[in-house]
Amino acid sequence: MCGICCMLILAPQKDGSDVLAKDMLESLQRRGPNHSQHLSREVPELGYNVFFSGHVLHMRGCLNPQPMQDAQGNLLLWNGEVFGGIKIGPEGNDTQIILQQLSSCKNEESILSVFSSIQGPWAFIYYQLSSHCLWFGRDFFGRRSLLWQFKNVENLCLTLTSVSTSVPQCANVPWKEVPTCGLYKIDIQKQTNAKLLAISWYPWKHGRIEYEFKTLHLGDKEQFTEKLPNFVSVFLNESKLFLTAPIIPMNCSMPESCTDTANCEPSSVNIEIFLSNEHKKQLVHKFINVLSESVRRRVLFLPRSENRPICSDQFTVSDEAKVAILFSGGVDSMVLSALADHHIPPDEPIDLLNVAFKQQEQKRQKTSTKQKKKSNVFSTLEEETLECDNGSVKKATAFNVPDRITGLSGLKELQIINPARRWNFIEINITLEELKEMRRQRISHLVHPLDTVLDDSIGCAVWFAARGIGTNTSNGETQPYISTAKVVLTGVGADEQLAGYSRHRVCYKASGCEGLVKELGLELGRISSRNLGRDDRVIGDHGKEARFPFLDEEVVCFLNALPVWEKADLTLPRGTGEKLLLRMAAKELGLTASAVLPKRAMQFGSRIAKMENNKEKASDKCNRLQQNSALQ
Ligand SMILES: *[C@@H]1O[C@H](CO)[C@@H](O)[C@H](O)[C@H]1NC(C)=O
Ligand SMILES: *[C@@H]1O[C@H](CO)[C@@H](O)[C@H](O)[C@H]1NC(C)=O
Ligand SMILES: *[C@@H]1O[C@H](CO)[C@@H](O)[C@H](O)[C@H]1NC(C)=O
Ligand SMILES: *[C@@H]1O[C@H](CO)[C@@H](O)[C@H](O)[C@H]1NC(C)=O
Ligand SMILES: *[C@@H]1O[C@H](CO)[C@@H](O)[C@H](O)[C@H]1NC(C)=O
Ligand SMILES: *[C@@H]1O[C@H](CO)[C@@H](O)[C@H](O)[C@H]1NC(C)=O
Ligand SMILES: *[C@@H]1O[C@H](CO)[C@@H](O)[C@H](O)[C@H]1NC(C)=O
Repeated sequence: MCGICCMLILAPQKDGSDVLAKDMLESLQRRGPNHSQHLSREVPELGYNVFFSGHVLHMRGCLNPQPMQDAQGNLLLWNGEVFGGIKIGPEGNDTQIILQQLSSCKNEESILSVFSSIQGPWAFIYYQLSSHCLWFGRDFFGRRSLLWQFKNVENLCLTLTSVSTSVPQCANVPWKEVPTCGLYKIDIQKQTNAKLLAISWYPWKHGRIEYEFKTLHLGDKEQFTEKLPNFVSVFLNESKLFLTAPIIPMNCSMPESCTDTANCEPSSVNIEIFLSNEHKKQLVHKFINVLSESVRRRVLFLPRSENRPICSDQFTVSDEAKVAILFSGGVDSMVLSALADHHIPPDEPIDLLNVAFKQQEQKRQKTSTKQKKKSNVFSTLEEETLECDNGSVKKATAFNVPDRITGLSGLKELQIINPARRWNFIEINITLEELKEMRRQRISHLVHPLDTVLDDSIGCAVWFAARGIGTNTSNGETQPYISTAKVVLTGVGADEQLAGYSRHRVCYKASGCEGLVKELGLELGRISSRNLGRDDRVIGDHGKEARFPFLDEEVVCFLNALPVWEKADLTLPRGTGEKLLLRMAAKELGLTASAVLPKRAMQFGSRIAKMENNKEKASDKCNRLQQNSALQ
């Protein structure tokens, strides 16, 4: 994870460095704490100035300062990880190898083919000196954040950055996420009109067929439909060059009997029955293999003693965890944990980050009386603790939110699967006061430019979880614990691809398999603007790197090739039918109760959504994120 930033000013003698807001630089530095460097290029004869700021988080190989420069004077800011497509050894420097490849590019096609071949998350800014071009973009899914802002006050000015300030310096100059529609290029020499910024655009395509969900961004006539200020134009060059999408289109086959089953009432069924079907079992094992490889690529190549690079002797053997997992005990995080266990050295601990927001006394009693009526696993636990409701017990139960309870039982399952592993279950308990304070100080900046109640809840929950400050209990003794793992695995992408959300059931009820397939296509297309940029900014703020195993190119290709009925069966009840393929995988990996837990969204599981205002809708604009709001 790195913090990258670039400012292009179309005016001679204007330096960007003093224009960058101080708090933005600080935020960039938090993403890349190991090395910071600025560089500017003034080209008065062409009437422009460009300023670069690079902040590096050191993950593997030797540390490479950014922006990285080649012999011809080209500059690269790279915030990404190459997990495939381009060969990089365990000690390789991906920044260096990509810059080498870009340096040797003679034309636009070859630059596009470099970015078409990379597997893994990325956002980059590349300045080509000889042609005075500025290239930038994000990977197909948008797993790394990049924002843009266009100003036309005295001069035309474009700023690109991993993370912004939430308070705009001038009114009406908003930050927006750079759309993950392809690569962009500014040919600075050709900006002849001082009042118009022209940006060439190279969209993603799937061979000759436009990839279905991306056409939604493209509109009918390949128009760039994102709202931009009127002095900015984004156009397709008549040469029609494009990037090759790293995934295949979704399989839209329909089962023969789909419309009938949509009306069936869910009937109870045991997942093991499916696994007795040889075809299903084979499919499950193929899925486990693809996902396992994705996890492997994301947990290896970290500074461990066995891949210590020659340039450094600072890697001491330590018994600290290198990998942490956002852990609710639900099926997504359980499968990731079980697979991580297969690849992480056996003597290295794994941090399971479990976040809980304090429930208010009143609300707790209300929910527990409600739950007493239903008789589920959670209610019995709540009852027990409420019966002896006195001082110390009160304090403890306030954090016994649903995700804490499932997290603890998930821990037990993992301890059974591998008793020799040190599983560090980190209880992260957050009070309302701390939530308010950290939202004001940091989180609201990071979530920006997203702004809904849902963005606030998830942004805050993920920020506290990823920070990793909590307690660890071993042998009944609770100790303060700070997770120092630089890699944070998250399960994002499982629900979107395997029909895990309740809206998928609604959609299936209303319009059957066809509607469901369409919805799944849409979800993958908008996951960058809904989740990924935000999660990357929030996790990156701790100098840690978010990694998304369910959004590995090969995992997505595997799932896209399957017809929808192999992934989910929404005629089956909750806790079975949605993400059916993943639940079967969980069973095969030896997991038990967690394999059949119904989906519980993080904002409810961690109880953050209950903390401040129950009456809001998730899609409402969130007042609490507004820095200048009187409601702070
Ligand atoms: C990078 O910076 C972090 C935070 O300051 C520090 O803990 C870590 O040791 C540094 N890593 C290296 C390889 O210098
Ligand atoms: C990594 O980069 C450093 C300098 O930034 C260089 O000295 C080293 O040789 C590189 N390692 C590899 C394997 O490319
Ligand atoms: C389109 O691309 C070609 C080849 O890269 C280039 O020569 C031409 O100037 C571009 N057209 C515009 C309008 O930028
Ligand atoms: C209340 O908690 C204290 C410990 O703080 C314990 O000693 C006491 O027995 C508890 N009282 C009841 C009624 O459970
Ligand atoms: C955190 O919450 C748990 C209940 O889930 C409780 O047992 C633990 O003592 C709490 N830790 C702190 C430091 O409050
Ligand atoms: C955390 O607790 C687990 C048991 O739950 C124990 O095995 C592990 O050693 C503890 N880790 C630390 C750093 O205390
Ligand atoms: C879609 O799935 C069906 C059923 O498994 C299969 O026969 C077909 O070949 C698949 N189509 C594509 C394009 O992969």
